[in-house]
Amino acid sequence: MRLVRCAAALTAAGLLLAACGEEPKPPPTAAGPAAPQPAPGFAAAPPAGDAEKGRQVWLVQCVTCHHRDPGKDGPIGPAVKGSSEALVEARLLRGGYPPGYTPKRDSKVMPARPDLARSIADLAAFLR
Ligand code: HEC
Repeated sequence: MRLVRCAAALTAAGLLLAACGEEPKPPPTAAGPAAPQPAPGFAAAPPAGDAEKGRQVWLVQCVTCHHRDPGKDGPIGPAVKGSSEALVEARLLRGGYPPGYTPKRDSKVMPARPDLARSIADLAAFLR
């Protein structure tokens, strides 16, 4: 009898210790499910090209051959005012042309510039 009571007391103490030893944690549901965060990069991407940014790229990267005024022929490259985004993309990514497009010249002087892929929309907005 005496032994049983002792064991019961120990068990009770053990439970108490276990209960006290627990860190006070908020229940997992207290904060609610994590709010969905937009993936970085997606939220920042502009929906359309920025003509002013395109102008900056044009002046730095393209006027070696094309005219400062894209409506005029440059020293090497032709006037490109009104070029579609598909045309700018084909030129910069592949050095090619969109399907069915008739190039202004049949030379192959202009190098592809896949490193400028992020500026295609801006350039197209500027050349529009
Ligand atoms: C090395 C000189 C050179 C540079 C630099 C250059 N181009 Fe060109 N570009 C040309 C030439 C020459 C053509 C005519 C086709 C050919 O020979 O490749 C041309 C053609 C084009 C055309 C197609 C015209 C048409 O309707 O047939 C577009 C659009 C164009 N360039 C845009 C650009 C843009 C935008 C840049 C700057 C990122 C650029 N080019 C940089 C020389 C250049």
